[in-house]
Amino acid sequence: MGIVKRSRIIGRVTDQAKQPSNIVVGVCGGIAAYKACHLIRNFTEAGDNVRVVPTQAALNFVGAATFEALSGNPVSTTVFDAVDEVQHVRVGQEADALVIAPATADAIARLVAGRADDLLMATALVATCPVIVVPAMHTEMWLNPATQDNVATLRRRGITVMEPAHGRLTGKDTGPGRLPDAEQIAELVRTELAGYRSQHDWVGKKVVISAGGTQEDMDPVRYIGNRSSGRQGFALAEIASQRGAEVVLVAGNTEQLPTPSGARVRNIGSTVELETAMQEEAADADIVIMAAAVSDYRPAKAATSKMKKGQADEELSRIELVENPDILRGLVDAREAGKLKDDVVIVGFAAETGDENGDALDYAKQKFVRKGCDVLMANEVGKGKVFGQKSNEGWILRKDVEPQVVESGSKQVVAAQILAAVNEILPS
Ligand code: CTP
Repeated sequence: MGIVKRSRIIGRVTDQAKQPSNIVVGVCGGIAAYKACHLIRNFTEAGDNVRVVPTQAALNFVGAATFEALSGNPVSTTVFDAVDEVQHVRVGQEADALVIAPATADAIARLVAGRADDLLMATALVATCPVIVVPAMHTEMWLNPATQDNVATLRRRGITVMEPAHGRLTGKDTGPGRLPDAEQIAELVRTELAGYRSQHDWVGKKVVISAGGTQEDMDPVRYIGNRSSGRQGFALAEIASQRGAEVVLVAGNTEQLPTPSGARVRNIGSTVELETAMQEEAADADIVIMAAAVSDYRPAKAATSKMKKGQADEELSRIELVENPDILRGLVDAREAGKLKDDVVIVGFAAETGDENGDALDYAKQKFVRKGCDVLMANEVGKGKVFGQKSNEGWILRKDVEPQVVESGSKQVVAAQILAAVNEILPS
């Protein structure tokens, strides 16, 4: 007992933010059941307690021993195991989150009907915690009106149904229906656990988000770039997509990040390419977010072949730069000129450092006025903060409202707060 207490105290000192959560992972009988193993691993490695509740069909794909070994907890599929512990209600009552991944069309139909014919369905009926359903099935089954109606019913009841990813399915076919990556699912579950429940209220809205960093060519192998990882823009895309919006990500140097479920990605290199893509995509958008780190300057001309050290010393040591367009300001001007929807909400970012003349927030306020956008997410950068990190914090600035302090958390938690602020000014 003494040891338990001591380790808890140490745990609190070293990791103040994180309390272990009780996460129930439901697994249904589809080929993607093997990917649930990565999800379980993701939660246990983060220190969470995981209870796996597979359906009988799931055990055709992955054995109970695998789930027991990965979770460190017993596995059963039926309400008739451990009857003395009343587990058909206890598992659901004790859960902080229930995530069903993969969820088959059949499981979704059973959830809609409120069946309690196995331990997973009984658990879902009892659970009052966030329930996240992650469908995986062939495109035809996903698009079938029966499944779509069932999904709409679950969403209406407050259950989160994650958009499936596009891509290669079990056979040779591709389309929507793939299980998103384990990390994407885990991030969404954590966002819900942090109190940011998914809404599905942006159906019919188009959201355009720039993400990552621009690269300005010096020659075919060298470029001027920046350290932006693109994670914040991708997190915004994920949350906007879960809200039901059509999401376009205009992304620079983000190839290593998984595509958010349901989003369309347009890859760009330079600032000029980014500007063209943003102007095209923004024309019919309801929300435009400039989360990309944009290079303010580019080389006046890029060499067509690689510059050699001996041969072009002078060219390499003195690069003539020309100013890039300010894309965010240009979008605000385009709205004023009637080229965008007149009620489009335009969001900018500001990564600031303080100095002897002002702190990061002062500079962010000045930038907000200068850019003319409707919302500005301001971060303080430097000292290892923000760029490439998995979490973020700062202030959200809006017109005629005091700066809103952003609760620290993952980039998805920050994204949920930014989009909640956008939602407040979004015309219905
Ligand atoms: N931005 C843009 N086009 C640029 C530079 C920046 O659209 N050429 C956008 C960024 O995507 C971000 C916001 O403007 O949403 C602020 O970017 P930041 O680099 O902080 O601003 P700058 O205008 O470059 O100001 P400064 O470098 O003076 O801080």
